[in-house]
Amino acid sequence: MKIIVVGTGYVGLPHGAICAEYGHNVVCYDIDEMRIEAYRSCERERIEQYINEPGLVSVIKEQHRRGLTFTTTINDEIEDVEAIFMCLNTPPQRDGATDMTYYLNAAHHLAELLAHRTSTHRIVIVNKSTVPIGTARKLARILMEHNAENVGVASNPEFLAQGKAVEGSRRPDRVVVGADTPEDLQILRRLYSQFVNHVRIRYTETTPETAEAIKYVANTLLLTYVSFWNGVGARLGESYANLRMEDLKIGVTSDSRISTWGSYVSNGAGGSCFGKDIQSLIYQLKQAGHDPSLLQAVYDINEHQKEYLIDRAEHEAVFNFNHKRIAVLGLAFKKRTNDMRDSAALKAIKALLGRGVAEIRAYDPLAVHDAQTHWFNPLDNHLYERISYFDSAEAAITDSDAVYISTDWEEFRSLSKTIIHSVQPPYLIIDGRRMLPDYEKLVALGYSYLPVGGVLLTPEEAQAETQENNVLAQLL
Ligand SMILES: NC(=O)c1ccc[n+]([C@@H]2O[C@H](COP(=O)([O-])OP(=O)(O)OC[C@H]3O[C@@H](n4cnc5c(N)ncnc54)[C@H](O)[C@@H]3O)[C@@H](O)[C@H]2O)c1
Repeated sequence: MKIIVVGTGYVGLPHGAICAEYGHNVVCYDIDEMRIEAYRSCERERIEQYINEPGLVSVIKEQHRRGLTFTTTINDEIEDVEAIFMCLNTPPQRDGATDMTYYLNAAHHLAELLAHRTSTHRIVIVNKSTVPIGTARKLARILMEHNAENVGVASNPEFLAQGKAVEGSRRPDRVVVGADTPEDLQILRRLYSQFVNHVRIRYTETTPETAEAIKYVANTLLLTYVSFWNGVGARLGESYANLRMEDLKIGVTSDSRISTWGSYVSNGAGGSCFGKDIQSLIYQLKQAGHDPSLLQAVYDINEHQKEYLIDRAEHEAVFNFNHKRIAVLGLAFKKRTNDMRDSAALKAIKALLGRGVAEIRAYDPLAVHDAQTHWFNPLDNHLYERISYFDSAEAAITDSDAVYISTDWEEFRSLSKTIIHSVQPPYLIIDGRRMLPDYEKLVALGYSYLPVGGVLLTPEEAQAETQENNVLAQLL
């Protein structure tokens, strides 16, 4: 089938590439010319400046050879297309409402093109963007106002997780399709023929409103798990020295009714979706006259979690950040992506700069370019001149006074050795991801360790505990 993907970001690009892999004739359309040029070049470095997802470049290269195209104009493509996927960004506004500007601009543009097409066959516009409940119906009205005939609308929310976008598009957990007419549902069934009747992938057909709501409810429930563990589990671990967080998790999640996903403590969940989607659902519930206090608490806990370790370092470790050099390890919101949207590091770095640090020594395997050009451009704020970037954790740590581990990159699990080789104690390690399995060794060597969900460990306390244990052993 011929399909157009409108918006080629983290969702549109993998979706278009995998649809091409499944044999469809795909046109990827975006208004960002530089981005489209980069994709067209098929050069790894240029593509990954925009989207860095494992396996994606190979699929693009292969499918580009077979006919996958990238364009900034679809005037001619519209004639014989059967489905158009809307993969536009839908960021939050200040009040939490969804900013629909990008989506609506694209919708009006498409409606105009469709109104002037000469072909008459059925075309479906499919919303993959996460959009407020009722948007599919709003799109139908826009199409009607423009006199675009024989065009259906459907909602098909995207559930992929960044870092696994290719896998998530190839073999999603479920496919949810919401449409009003059997004709439109049938077009989607043909499009997703590899998923319909799949033994493992659940294919659900429902109303557009239900499909739109499924996306919001799923994302806010996931964030609720995260905030539950951060708001309850982490606080318990920080209050009782002998409480073992990993055992707590195993003990609790051994109950098959309790999710293991989200059952961990961290410096908060980032990414473009969780924060934005929960704010949007809070706004939608308020608009409908309901009290969203549960969701508000979930959101607040998550945001608080992103910088409270800095407060703990000041109050518990009595660490004064003023004029200090702080290594920040991990800028992306999670491992295996370059995406920094809503990342914990963004908030932590701003908090550290606000406390007068002399230098932030930042390292991330993938996100440095984005950080420099987009998030911490010194032209936007002169304080960002205090951020230096390094090409390894070791280089960032060397000459620093403390380290803050913000992202769960696997390479940070073996950071203890790097710390021992690069800096001498006294030295504070703030661990927002509980990445150091051998932290006790570090404390024994004189380093201080402040983990999320755990009490502050200092060499003095470790020594006192050893003495206490020795006395106890002698008594017994
Ligand atoms: N990123 C994720 O992991 C994820 C997961 C599930 C759902 N979603 C949802 O999918 C949607 C897209 O998210 P994203 O992360 O891919 O966004 P993104 O910002 O990475 O990509 C959006 C793209 O749309 C393009 N665009 C903007 N206006 C346009 C127009 N008028 N015509 C054509 N292209 C236009 C932009 O240039 C950009 O390339 C959002 O609604 C998001 O909530 C995202």
